[in-house]
Amino acid sequence: MRVGLLVNIKPQVKGYRDRAVIAPPRRGAAMQPSMIEDLYAEWDAPETIDAVRHALESHPDVEVEVIEAVPDRAIDRLLIKDFDIVFNLAEGFIGAAREAQFPALLEMLGIPYTGSGPLALAIALDKARTKEILSYHGIPVARFITTITPVASIHSYLPGSDFPFIVKPISEGSSKGIRNSSFVTNLDELNHEIERIAGEYQQPALVEEFLPGREFTVAVLGSGDKARVLPIVEINFGELPPEANSIYSYEAKWIYDVSENPLNIFTCPADVPAKLKDEIEAVVLRAYEVLECRDWARVDVRLDGRGRANIIEINPLPGILPNPEENSCYPKAARAAGLTYEAMLLSVLKSGCDRYGIPFKFEPKHEPGLR
Ligand SMILES: Nc1ncnc2c1ncn2[C@@H]1O[C@H](COP(=O)(O)OP(=O)(O)O)[C@@H](O)[C@H]1O
Ligand SMILES: [Mg+2]
Repeated sequence: MRVGLLVNIKPQVKGYRDRAVIAPPRRGAAMQPSMIEDLYAEWDAPETIDAVRHALESHPDVEVEVIEAVPDRAIDRLLIKDFDIVFNLAEGFIGAAREAQFPALLEMLGIPYTGSGPLALAIALDKARTKEILSYHGIPVARFITTITPVASIHSYLPGSDFPFIVKPISEGSSKGIRNSSFVTNLDELNHEIERIAGEYQQPALVEEFLPGREFTVAVLGSGDKARVLPIVEINFGELPPEANSIYSYEAKWIYDVSENPLNIFTCPADVPAKLKDEIEAVVLRAYEVLECRDWARVDVRLDGRGRANIIEINPLPGILPNPEENSCYPKAARAAGLTYEAMLLSVLKSGCDRYGIPFKFEPKHEPGLR
């Protein structure tokens, strides 16, 4: 089977594991400090892409060609239409629908691909739209407003809600724009963050009620009736330095937690009572279903003041760092389920093939004791 591995490759700066970069976003545009650091945070490092290629090729019937998801090269290559399926990791380019761009193109060309479709990808990248849809279906989410300009008062928009709030860019992932300062306790801090996000990311801010409870992230594998959750990951905020707020910020993900000095920030499987485990799993699978996610995704959950599981966001293109020493939730959950990196990715491929009726023989071996 010929598999096209469609990826965006992160430009590397020597000495930094996951930080990058070099080129400004537009010719002539001034580069903001945060852009230097996190412009390509969502893209995959060359080591990750190699590891994915090797993992898929560990199956005797799979032959992989890496396609860089840049418009000219990728479109010319895909037009040849000689792939049985594309394994989609493309983050896309500019705009709030960027993750949907390549899946939409693949659909236009009639090429099968793994993962969610353009609609789910575009919605999931807009955290406000996602929450609107989830709340329509009765799934708990934090109350919020979106704004691109400072506000005179927050209480008039969210009566009954009070500080602290969290302020995030509406359409980013990989903790882009979510800083320790995103946790705000008064109107000055709130407006400062709204202006920072409007200035650095040119987009509205999402101002959300802060969910004060435990935080989890849950990997889902499979599609439709076959979608299942992998063991729940808990984020241990106690591992962060004392000055850090209890949020999984850019600093927590990329600065405090480095491969030379990894934080023990995740516990998997999370130590939760059976009732809470059932509640989290049910709400995650419901969110996955409502958004029409396919093959795989990772869903972030946090408990509100009453201990109820709320959905924070859905990641239909989850991060998949291959090295167990580096903290990456989806592969960690897969290992806790007894799935190697190879078995995890081949299971995603199998789920995609099954949806299209593409013959592909694969049954993952479960290896207990993987960590
Ligand atoms: N409403 C909220 N209440 C409490 N913490 C939140 C809330 N929204 C986000 N966070 C914190 O910020 C982190 C990053 O937010 P998230 O929306 O998941 O962004 P990203 O796309 O960068 O992962 C979360 O993992 C969580 O720690
Ligand atoms: Mg998240």
